[in-house]
Amino acid sequence: MKNGRKVALITGIGGQDGSYLSEFLLGKGYYVRGIVRRASSTNTKRIDHLLHKYKDDHTDDCPFSLKYADLTDTSSLRNVIEEIQPDEIYNLAAQSHVGISFENGASTIEINALGTYKILETLRKMNYKGKFYQASSSEMFGASPPPQNEETPFRPQSPYGISKVAAFHLTKLYRQAHGLFASNGILFNHESPRRGLNFVTKKITFEIGQILVGERDKIILGNLDAKRDWGFAGEYVQAMWKILQHDLPDDFVIATEETHTVKDFLEECFALVGLDKGRFLETSNRYKRPAEVPALLGDSSKAKRVLGWNPKIKFKELAEMMLVEDIKEALERKGIVPVDPENKNPKEFYLEKARELARKL
Ligand code: NAP
Ligand code: GDD
Repeated sequence: MKNGRKVALITGIGGQDGSYLSEFLLGKGYYVRGIVRRASSTNTKRIDHLLHKYKDDHTDDCPFSLKYADLTDTSSLRNVIEEIQPDEIYNLAAQSHVGISFENGASTIEINALGTYKILETLRKMNYKGKFYQASSSEMFGASPPPQNEETPFRPQSPYGISKVAAFHLTKLYRQAHGLFASNGILFNHESPRRGLNFVTKKITFEIGQILVGERDKIILGNLDAKRDWGFAGEYVQAMWKILQHDLPDDFVIATEETHTVKDFLEECFALVGLDKGRFLETSNRYKRPAEVPALLGDSSKAKRVLGWNPKIKFKELAEMMLVEDIKEALERKGIVPVDPENKNPKEFYLEKARELARKL
């Protein structure tokens, strides 16, 4: 605590979830601290608006500030934790792309599994009395058939899934063996306009924007039959916070309890703007994985009952939200509509413009 306010440390603060969680915690009056790793070009795009607003002056009193550290570097983690003395730690940093984990298995395991171990071990040695959140994943369920809940066995299908299973069990072990307040949020897929470009939902909405303005001919995808339980990241970060506010450390599944195929997502988006799937979609083995997670559908009744967490944004609204944002961005990029920084135009405005462009293709 500092000046009567809680201090949160977020690893992976520059990622999709880190940016929403920062906004949420700042809104609750937290001092938010985050670690970013050194990169040769900017990796703070999603939080630049916060850096600008709070003008990180490296003083203790700044509501929002960043430090350099890396999950592969124990001493950097220890230095930051000792300096910041956070009440809550949200461990979101990861190599989070499942497909890429087949190519970069060692670094995925080093960051996601060993990185988590390094934080937990630092906390144990410090006799840490705060709370630790681990970003666990529905990818851990892998080949276990749906619906999946906290009791479902893990049958991971990728180096990423395996790394997350290890981090999950380490978190549980440090809770049970060392008395640390350490909880796992087992989050099913959650998306947003801030999603990385190489995840399937964002790839589809971004590339539809490109097709509409003449920057691309086709969308090329891999497995269209995989089923996912897709929610909105802005709501899922609230669940992370609720997990740490619970009296006891525990593990919770967080999901919408709806599942749809990749093909459903694509068709929903194509239908919204009137594009013909036959003409603008191609499939390629390039985007298929050596092993696949066929179907994810979460049962989050425990989180509903114990935490009172209940998501409002489901599949259709999510697809429309992401698509409208990417259409807006593409139209503004090409100067087809004037830039609207305050989002004054209604979503129907962009969808109508998109349909006009689609008719001319
Ligand atoms: P994301 O957008 O890929 O963000 C990951 C963040 O981790 C990035 O800021 C990245 O920094 C950082 N990072 C990677 N390696 C690092 C290292 N060695 N040291 C320090 N930081 C490092 O992921 P997300 O979607 O926000 O997901 C957040 C967490 O939840 C991840 O752990 C993910 O595995 C997990 N999760 C996500 C979902 C989902 O559907 N989104 C579902 C379940 C679990 P750079 O920008 O420098 O790469
Ligand atoms: N990325 C991608 N690109 N996926 C494709 C493509 C493509 O071109 N074509 C089909 N897919 C299929 C994948 O094979 C997978 O079955 C599904 O679309 C979703 O892929 P992603 O969006 O990459 O997400 P993910 O489910 O593999 O992993 C995400 O969710 C996990 C939670 O279940 C990531 O956010 C993980 O970090 C997260 O833990």
